[in-house]
Amino acid sequence: MLIRILGAAAGGGFPQWNCLCRGCETSRSGKATSLTQSSIAIQSQNGDWFLINASPDVRLQIEQMRAQQCFVETSRRSLPFASIVLTDAEIDHTTGLMLLRESSQPLKIYASTSVKRALTTGYPLFSTLQNYCGVEWLPLDLGQSIAIAPDLEMEAFPLSTKPPKYMQGEPGSQEIWGVGLTIRDRYTHGSLTYAPGLATIDEAMQRRFDASDLILIDGTFWTNDELPALGIGSRSALQMGHLPLSGKEGSLAQLAQLKTPHKTLVHINNTNPILIPNSLERQIVESQGIEIGFDGLMFTL
Ligand code: MLT
Ligand code: MN
Ligand code: ZN
Repeated sequence: MLIRILGAAAGGGFPQWNCLCRGCETSRSGKATSLTQSSIAIQSQNGDWFLINASPDVRLQIEQMRAQQCFVETSRRSLPFASIVLTDAEIDHTTGLMLLRESSQPLKIYASTSVKRALTTGYPLFSTLQNYCGVEWLPLDLGQSIAIAPDLEMEAFPLSTKPPKYMQGEPGSQEIWGVGLTIRDRYTHGSLTYAPGLATIDEAMQRRFDASDLILIDGTFWTNDELPALGIGSRSALQMGHLPLSGKEGSLAQLAQLKTPHKTLVHINNTNPILIPNSLERQIVESQGIEIGFDGLMFTL
């Protein structure tokens, strides 16, 4: 399979329109590479592409793929994705669906029942799209292997119980709102684990990561108090469902124990100093053999 990072930034992108933090200003000055919002795509051996999360930047991301000849297109109007997979119902992972409404076919969307509920009630994108291209919902159940292509099997595993902000009034705190995905190639035996929003790394997850060839993993924040310390938010990284990279309990320390996979960070927030070239934080990450994701980065497994 072929894997492409469409957008390596977290919600807001890099730079974020209303942010004057050091990273955003560095990016505006041209000294740090700008990044679009969180999304990846996978290609099967038969040529079909799958969009995993639909960011508000999906239009630009598709045009970047087209410019790099990622698609073989034969008709005047084509939806370049065989289906779409949503790992959660966050605004930054779903708003791009609205931009795909011109599709001449219904959008086939894999999502959990929780995500489907969110997108038909709190943020009714699915309901709205019914009057445009239509949505064909495909269930994404935990622990079940789904053949999305003859060569590709996808399995969802629980990542986060944090509901999107717009669903926070709902009771039931143990509901799984965010899932990770393991995608295995039956021909090459390559495997990818994608976990853009994780608050803890438990033993089962450690084993899953170590059984993968590539992990694309949450790199949202450097420290737990990153936003409050900058005076631009009240919630900690953990309260937002993101394990920070640094610290004794941080994700870097846990990733250091993994032997097998190539490790690449995605969903990186614009406040994270790892986005600034030559920063100490960036050097720490890279010295541990961990790659900092960027738009257009491709992998073959
Ligand atoms: C997240 O990744 O935690 C969310 O996208 C943040 C948000 O926009 O509420
Ligand atoms: Mn996000
Ligand atoms: Zn910023």
